[in-house]
Amino acid sequence: MCGIVGYTGRDQAVGYLLEGLSALEYRGYDSAGVEVVGTDGALHGVKCAGRVSVLRERCETANLVGTTGIAHTRWATHGAPTDRNSHPHRDCTGRIAIVHNGIIENFRELRSYLARNGHALASDTDSEVIAHLIEDAWAGPCRGDLVTAVRHAVRRLRGSWAIAVVCADAPGEIVCARNGSPLVVASTPDGAFAASDVTPLAGVTSRVIQLENGQLARLRASGEVTVFDEEGAPVDAPAVMEIDWDASAATLGGYADFMAKEIAEQPEALERLLSGRLGEKGILLDELSMSEKDLADVDLVYLIACGTSYHVGLIARTLIQTWAKVPVICDFASEFNYEQDVLVTPHTLCVVITQSGETADTLTAARRMRGMGCKVFAVTNVLGSTAAREADGVLYVQAGPEVCVASTKAYTAQMVASALLALRLAQAKGEMGRPEVERHYRDLCALPGLIREVISRSWQDKRAAAVFRRAHSALFLGRGVNATTASEGALKLKEISYLHAEAYPAGEMKHGPIALLEPGFPVVAIVPADRVHDKTVSNIQEVIARGAVCVAVATDGDEDVASLVEHVLWIPPVGDELLVPIVAVVHLQMLARYVARTRGCDVDKPRNLAKSVTVE
Ligand code: F6R
Repeated sequence: MCGIVGYTGRDQAVGYLLEGLSALEYRGYDSAGVEVVGTDGALHGVKCAGRVSVLRERCETANLVGTTGIAHTRWATHGAPTDRNSHPHRDCTGRIAIVHNGIIENFRELRSYLARNGHALASDTDSEVIAHLIEDAWAGPCRGDLVTAVRHAVRRLRGSWAIAVVCADAPGEIVCARNGSPLVVASTPDGAFAASDVTPLAGVTSRVIQLENGQLARLRASGEVTVFDEEGAPVDAPAVMEIDWDASAATLGGYADFMAKEIAEQPEALERLLSGRLGEKGILLDELSMSEKDLADVDLVYLIACGTSYHVGLIARTLIQTWAKVPVICDFASEFNYEQDVLVTPHTLCVVITQSGETADTLTAARRMRGMGCKVFAVTNVLGSTAAREADGVLYVQAGPEVCVASTKAYTAQMVASALLALRLAQAKGEMGRPEVERHYRDLCALPGLIREVISRSWQDKRAAAVFRRAHSALFLGRGVNATTASEGALKLKEISYLHAEAYPAGEMKHGPIALLEPGFPVVAIVPADRVHDKTVSNIQEVIARGAVCVAVATDGDEDVASLVEHVLWIPPVGDELLVPIVAVVHLQMLARYVARTRGCDVDKPRNLAKSVTVE
């Protein structure tokens, strides 16, 4: 995690750097710092625990003047989030400074080596060693050549890194290096930029270079950007990416927070994704980059993801098994990576689901699957992300930038993408005829309207949020695909309101969790009109009999549920019961948000979390 940004050009650097950090703050926000090469030929910086807003205030009084600088917003891995451990980190001379995103696995060994050789390390971080290794290289054979000094230094590192380096003796220059953690650089008429991802650059340029693993880049104040390979040879045609995201998409636009905005954007996101997906031959999913025969031959689908995206995987498993009749295994990437025996067939299709496309565990899993000869298909939201670039095929869910740490619009868009994939497979395998495919596509196309309707009922969630005001814990129940809706609802609630929540398949409650119930205990039951409706209603009876307070997500007109529970979050009827999770979850997103606000939490930036989990 962590966000890094760099600027060298004709303008003052601090403004760009702070703006860049604000845009990257979703990557981590426990401390932040900035360093510029001053007009006096020395480095000047400010760094502190806390958010970018705290850094901004400090910068106002520090008056940092300089047109070349680097900056960092941190999600602590090694060392507590304190002023001392904030980036940038300097070498012993105070003339070299670095910012780092990633983890240096051999940092203990390097710290001892550096200490033995007279370096004084000032922080508890793994990152600081990089500044001192560059110092050694600069003091030795690489003096005057920052690219070579950085290249020498990174050769000694094990782990993952995206770094940006400034040196007071190389004014008007920033050197970057990448291995494992994302980094983009861009040349503009106002100067050259580096950043962890395109977000800070979207208002500045529409063309960025995505550094590959092992590559370095030199940014000059003239705007010139040169990319080098591991051997230090210039790269002739580095990978250029066109940014097609509207910079205003990452602004609040009148909403109280990004979560509210992103919940509201779901109908449009799904419309974009679904538009033009039905052609003469059925569902169009050319992004798969697989022949009809290869698709028809798929005999096992492996779905791998983390967190909310893993919940998409659980829904996708049911959709693919039900519609395409292909067996599916769905696994957490962090578990999959350490499983000893992975069962794959010669025709296994691996699908990684990742909003950011940068989740370290998911990327490792995808590489492992490719290593075993499987085709890897990525379902992601972020254009040009590592998952997208490394996969054999990629489906962009086109939800637009998701800024709130808790995923909402990417979740529903990824579920719709999974439904399209399930239909495409069903079609290729001859499991579904044209009329059936068309019917399912129609049901999918109805979803945006249904979600709009749910959003218009947000007052129901606001009212139900009162139930959780004094609660310490909550139980979420659902059956079938909505056992996953329950899991997603519980995850949303705990991550943004810090209220403990547990999800259980409703029928399993009597095997243990029922012991939790006491008068006033909040239980959220997802009980739409589906084949297991009556069974779930019985579970609600069991909850109420023990004095617990039940909030139910139910389908319009359900008198059974209305007569039983205090709060109903109503959803309109959904064409296919397997698609209910895509509509029902919207209530749970809004409920979690209202509960979090009632409890005074920052819904967009929950404590201890970061949007993009680029460490294992
Ligand atoms: C929860 C949430 C996380 C992410 C998880 C995977 O709201 O957003 O659980 O889903 O960190 O992230 P991606 O999808 O970027 O791989």
